Amino acid sequence: MLSRMKIAVVGAGHMGAALISGILRAKLVSPGRIAAARRSEAALAELRKRWGVKTFTDNAKAVAGADIVILAVKPQNAGVVVRGIAPVMKPSQLVISLMAGITTTSISGLLKTSCPVVRAMPNTPAQVDAGATAICAGAGADEKHLGLAEKIFGSVGTVVTVPENAMDAVTGLSGSGPVYIFMLIEAMIDGGVKMGIPRAMAAKLAAQTVFGSAKLVMESGKHPAILRDEVTTPGGTAINAIHELESKGLRSVLIDAIVTATRRSEELSRLLAG
Ligand SMILES: NC(=O)c1ccc[n+]([C@@H]2O[C@H](COP(=O)([O-])OP(=O)(O)OC[C@H]3O[C@@H](n4cnc5c(N)ncnc54)[C@H](OP(=O)(O)O)[C@@H]3O)[C@@H](O)[C@H]2O)c1
Repeated sequence: MLSRMKIAVVGAGHMGAALISGILRAKLVSPGRIAAARRSEAALAELRKRWGVKTFTDNAKAVAGADIVILAVKPQNAGVVVRGIAPVMKPSQLVISLMAGITTTSISGLLKTSCPVVRAMPNTPAQVDAGATAICAGAGADEKHLGLAEKIFGSVGTVVTVPENAMDAVTGLSGSGPVYIFMLIEAMIDGGVKMGIPRAMAAKLAAQTVFGSAKLVMESGKHPAILRDEVTTPGGTAINAIHELESKGLRSVLIDAIVTATRRSEELSRLLAG
């Protein structure tokens, strides 16, 4: 039962704090069962004030007695942080890592204890409960462990389970994906402004159009191509815009962006492993 478990979040920065917020709002555990760790005492004081969670500047103290240890520090800090907690970790503790590019094998190697390890790739819309997270199981992690991770990330959005060799592609698609959409929104705003719409109004219309279109894809269950065809009137505005987007290669550009981001994620994983 997750509600009776203790959760330690090591590296309570943007993503770590977003998870704590989601866990508490979904009432998965009470604030007293969460230990948040980072080096800045001032930032920890803010977390205590906001949520009433326990806070630590000492990672080893934070993870002692936790059933689940969430590693949310930057990948560059993985070595020092995981080696630091390794001596106090027990094989029964589930480790969930959000660190981009750090494999479950690397984490198990640094831990030197046979803790089950689940790896996750969330994205920043988790901050508004609309995240998309992929999780995968490392050695020693079973369905029960994946289920716990699914509940935790489910508190801030949608969760899918993938094999670990798909994590770089997930990084290229949904991990980095918000950036592509932010650029799309920005460009749509500029298009509106160019055609005379005040910027604030253009921003509202562009963001709501992206939000509404995504909601329609998800809630109608229809393929996006069907939804597009439904609003494409013969000789109308949409087909003229589609022609422009196709001739300038919108689809190819997005596919290439995902391929390139995936390749870069693979490269970074190799660098961090080395
Ligand atoms: N943001 C994203 O979109 C996203 C998406 C997927 C995965 N991730 C992964 O999530 C992780 C966190 O990313 P983020 O954007 O949340 O970064 P962040 O805001 O910088 O959070 C990392 C936190 O780690 C703390 N930290 C650094 N060294 C530490 C140490 N030795 N012991 C304890 N805490 C330490 C830092 O706080 P102090 O300086 O106070 O110690 C900082 O608040 C990364 O590994 C990233 O790859 C992020």
